[in-house]
Amino acid sequence: MDYTKPSNTPTLENFWMPFTANRQFKAAPRLLASASGMYYTDVDGNTVLDGTAGLWCVNAGHGRKRIADAVERQLRTLDFAPTFQMGHPIAFDFAEKLGRIVPGGVAAELDRVFFTGSGSESVDTALKIAIAYQRAIGQGTRSRIIGREKGYHGVGFGGISVGGLVNNRRVFPQIPADHMRHTLDIERNAFSKGLPAHGLELAEDLERLVQLHGPETIAAVIVEPMSGSAGVILPPKGYLERIRAISQKYGILLIFDEVITGFGRLGTPFATDYFGVVPDLVTTAKGLTNGAIPMGAVFASRKVYDGLMNGPENAIELFHGYTYSGHPVASAAGIATLEIYAEENLLTRAAGLAETWQEALHSLKDHPHVVDVRNLGLVGAIELSPRDGAPGTRAYDVFVDCFKKGLLIRVTGDVIALSPPLIIEKEQIETIVSMIGDALKRVA
Ligand SMILES: Cc1ncc(COP(=O)(O)O)c(C=O)c1O
Repeated sequence: MDYTKPSNTPTLENFWMPFTANRQFKAAPRLLASASGMYYTDVDGNTVLDGTAGLWCVNAGHGRKRIADAVERQLRTLDFAPTFQMGHPIAFDFAEKLGRIVPGGVAAELDRVFFTGSGSESVDTALKIAIAYQRAIGQGTRSRIIGREKGYHGVGFGGISVGGLVNNRRVFPQIPADHMRHTLDIERNAFSKGLPAHGLELAEDLERLVQLHGPETIAAVIVEPMSGSAGVILPPKGYLERIRAISQKYGILLIFDEVITGFGRLGTPFATDYFGVVPDLVTTAKGLTNGAIPMGAVFASRKVYDGLMNGPENAIELFHGYTYSGHPVASAAGIATLEIYAEENLLTRAAGLAETWQEALHSLKDHPHVVDVRNLGLVGAIELSPRDGAPGTRAYDVFVDCFKKGLLIRVTGDVIALSPPLIIEKEQIETIVSMIGDALKRVA
């Protein structure tokens, strides 16, 4: 079947769609058929400008030939090989190349790489590494993890436990965790450009939770340096530095979840570099392979890795791993992606566009329903006032309206979240903003 032919649509019943209102969607589907550069084409042949890098992942833009060629070559050479008590060169090669662009720079020593298949797997891997490390160094009572309200750390049982989005948690059992307050404060920080000025004191929640539970019960604290999925929530100035200081004081490992911020989103290779705050573990996925092949990676510090490399040499040090950890085809996609990032300076390109992006987004300040605009690097959020008794429906209507006119945005609650591919040009930034502006005027 050629889905790029106009109106060539599949049967919709069987695919149980993730994070989707299945019945609503299947009654009025939006189907993308192909993609190139900054644009998708839908099954009816309409062009759709990608304002979200797919799902925060296609950082180098769509349809990169270099990645396709590398994947094809690898599939023909070695389609799959195990990495349990076995190995293949390309996974080691990829880890070594990642070790050169490591979060925090080479001096941070975050260059021990554990491969996973997704962001959720990276998060659960990092949580398990943290707990196992504490036990390995004689701190076996440390099994609790501290997360944050409104945090999103994927959908594994570990990730939902430390996450703070109620709909993802309410019907599932959880591992021991507690939560700091989130840092969204529209009353004090509305329309901040870049990092908000107010809220540093919220970092003291970590100190409070340490006092509540006892430091000897806490293995790690995990935060997104910038929360994406909850609607782009930024850390107040000095906040991450303070979290680092408190975690260090009590022997608590710090995990940065960089599944969104990793690979250039803020104008530096990682948020770790942007903030100059170095954690003990960094979770990544998405931009790792430009979204082309599923893969995630956890960067661990040498301290954490070495802490677990004890006991007899024939003993497995960490009873954890996935069939697809270090998958050869994903590794090939990842290496090709890193080459593109390096050749086109994409890991720092957002820095040069950040001000244009910021001014363009903030030009929407006085449009109907807008209660806040937030931005950092090439990430943006436009928060709308909710309709009485129907939260989320206004932003959803803007999303549908934009899609019909040829722009893909993402909405979460009443927040429009934007994260275009890092190859975006200034004219395309203007197009995104003017299309959203028009939609805001149309939607009641
Ligand atoms: C910060 C963060 N962590 C984890 C995840 C989960 O990643 P995945 O959907 O690949 O499992 C996401 C996904 O958006 C994310 O934003």
